[in-house]
Amino acid sequence: MENLYAALLGYAFGSIPFGLLLARAAGLGDVRKIGSGNIGATNVLRTGNKGVAAATLLLDLAKGLAPVLLAKTLWPGSEGIAAVAAVLGHCFPVWLGFKGGKGVATNAGVSFGLAWPIGLAYALVWLVVLAVGRISSVAGMSAVVAAAVAAAVLGFGDYVVPLAVIAALIIWLHRANIGRLMRGEEPRVGSSKKVDG
Ligand code: G3P
Repeated sequence: MENLYAALLGYAFGSIPFGLLLARAAGLGDVRKIGSGNIGATNVLRTGNKGVAAATLLLDLAKGLAPVLLAKTLWPGSEGIAAVAAVLGHCFPVWLGFKGGKGVATNAGVSFGLAWPIGLAYALVWLVVLAVGRISSVAGMSAVVAAAVAAAVLGFGDYVVPLAVIAALIIWLHRANIGRLMRGEEPRVGSSKKVDG
């Protein structure tokens, strides 16, 4: 029963579409109709509004962090389920016909919630790869893999499977990005170039 509560809690938080709500509130229109159509911070940045993109990043991170910390406190041992459910909620929100984002920011919050050293590894890899290559999808995919590896290497064995499941899901959701990367067409951060998926 506790695992079910954790799953519902994670999904409830994760499915709040902050990018869509904030962009709309700021008068930037429907973020699903621009750029990649993704509701995450990278695509919100394509509206040209850095503040709304930063707020999206922080809130998407917070909605991953909160349910994991709550599950850890209320139902110890169920936080891995809350973690997977939060990312699933972001990627497949019932409120938007199950078409959401790609989970990178939410998984950052999840990683910090599971164990701060995992979150630190995630943030470092994300920031360094982003600073070097300036391609959001590459930074995101590197970070999600780094989190699963960090859990294994740093002795958080219980979190390896949830983070590996999340990494597999997030990489699959980036298949259009991977196609563009292979063709040399993936835009760098801040570019407003129209991309599909
Ligand atoms: O976090 C999402 C990012 O990795 C890719 O976003 O909009 O370029 O597909 P986007």
